[in-house]
Amino acid sequence: MHVRTVRSAVMIGVLTVGVGCVPPPRAATTLEQSNNVRDEATVDALFAPPSSESIPGDLRGEQIRLGYEIVVHTQEYGKPYVGNALNCANCHLDAGLNPNAASYVGISGLYPEYRARADRRMSLADRVNECFERSMNGKALPPDSSKLQAVVAYIDWLSQNVPRGSKISWRGIPRITSTRPPDLVNGKNVFAKKCVFCHGSDGQGTMAAPPVWGPKSYNIAAGMARVSVAASFIKANMPRGWGWSVTDDEAFDVAAYINSQPRPDFPDKVHDWPKGGKPADTPY
Ligand code: HEC
Ligand code: HEC
Repeated sequence: MHVRTVRSAVMIGVLTVGVGCVPPPRAATTLEQSNNVRDEATVDALFAPPSSESIPGDLRGEQIRLGYEIVVHTQEYGKPYVGNALNCANCHLDAGLNPNAASYVGISGLYPEYRARADRRMSLADRVNECFERSMNGKALPPDSSKLQAVVAYIDWLSQNVPRGSKISWRGIPRITSTRPPDLVNGKNVFAKKCVFCHGSDGQGTMAAPPVWGPKSYNIAAGMARVSVAASFIKANMPRGWGWSVTDDEAFDVAAYINSQPRPDFPDKVHDWPKGGKPADTPY
């Protein structure tokens, strides 16, 4: 088990109020301390989200705030493009500020980036649209959409203190690996004991938590539909507020159980990985 440690400059509080912010397990190094080591070539970028007070008071600031609303309240602000009951922040926890849950901090500088699944170079906006189509089981926003531009503006703003070209040690989800094939029977037991309370015995979600399978969940072409991705997310973050409390095997078993349940299809999946490289746990 590897608890992700990230050097941190500032922790922003204001933006995440009401989003169920749980401080992630990590050792923070202050900006002052880190300045001493910044010249070393091997130094990772700082996990350095800006303070919400630094959102400009102009039109750009309005765009950033709209982007935040879309990420946190996607059901309301992203409506015509969403095809399930999720919000971006259900997976990109704490509005993208959680370094154990595919954080948005610092990722702007990594785009454009070649993606083997699509076999093309993608802009950050393209990548956002991939999650709209798959994780949100919805549709891509047009390139000139003000909503798409707002999400990108929010991520750009979160990334501003992370220099382009630096290493983003907290990118994605801290990955765990399995020691044996997943056990669906144990997965069902883990789900009943540790997940049903919030996600419901039918996995369709409750007032307390979003669905994890069924017609209102992510589709089969989403990253979360891969057992290793879901297992890693669950390990670090679930039960919500009690991350790192299940064993790696339990995380794999329950992830395999969830992902063995029905969920929406994604017909365009036939175009994925045209040049190969499909991960072994892709469910199609
Ligand atoms: C069901 C969970 C889920 C939902 C909902 C979701 N995403 Fe994602 N998203 C992921 C996963 C998993 C990844 C890949 C993380 C990795 O590479 O380890 C990802 C990756 C991304 C990335 C690229 C991150 C990087 O490091 O380059 C962006 C940008 C993104 N999502 C934006 C969004 C936006 C905007 C929404 C809402 C419209 C959204 N996502 C909804 C699970 C989700
Ligand atoms: C205390 C309540 C609670 C428990 C228990 C809990 N979760 Fe969650 N889970 C949540 C909440 C709330 C979210 C959305 C997080 C957010 O929006 O901040 C979530 C999100 C998720 C997601 C990503 C979003 C989605 O719905 O696809 C998955 C997958 C998930 N949980 C799996 C699990 C598994 C597996 C367990 C059991 C090991 C579990 N959860 C236990 C509350 C809980």
